[in-house]
Amino acid sequence: MPLPYSEKLLEYFKHPKNVGKIENPDAKAKEGSPACGDMVTLYLKVDEKTKRITEIKFESFGCASNIATGSIITELAKGRTLEEAKEITWEDASKELGGLPPIKVHCSVLAVDVLRAAIEDYEEKHGLMKDKERTTKEIVLKRLKHVMNPIAGLDIVRTNIVKSVTIEEDTVKVAIALERDHQFASNIKEEVIERLGGLWDIEKIEVGFEKE
Ligand code: FES
Repeated sequence: MPLPYSEKLLEYFKHPKNVGKIENPDAKAKEGSPACGDMVTLYLKVDEKTKRITEIKFESFGCASNIATGSIITELAKGRTLEEAKEITWEDASKELGGLPPIKVHCSVLAVDVLRAAIEDYEEKHGLMKDKERTTKEIVLKRLKHVMNPIAGLDIVRTNIVKSVTIEEDTVKVAIALERDHQFASNIKEEVIERLGGLWDIEKIEVGFEKE
């Protein structure tokens, strides 16, 4: 049985807006959906004085709903200040598209999550974070939940391959239960470093591989 997609959603899927990559973005984020494993990357250019989003693009490896909601939220965010863009919700995107089938709600949540993560990335890089909470193990694990374990199609935390996380002053050490020469080891390492890179009080990230 075909999914009940609105005409507008199909139109945005066939002719998506703001798809692509921005070279030298001011901020970017990559998010994966825990529900389906699909990934989206979003890029921002921000006017430093007004804090308005001047350019925004996304690359989606998600489904039609994700591409359509990515188009809508990027259209809504363009020209807004970062604070205004934070207010955009998946419900806004769904409303604009004339509703989403319930099993496709997570696709619009993914689009909104990646926008918020890119804004956070900008704020971290520009020292705009309001509450400078020191990095804790919980904060690290929360970020690691966005790193995919390609072997299982889910993140590395939920698939239990994060053996340990240690924080010593400005260094985070992450041990992954995988052989050092595993085909996905370098991929996972890169993603862990990228994901933890924006933490304001962390200078060094060490990723080790240990398989019993
Ligand atoms: Fe994965 Fe829609 S099913 S983003």
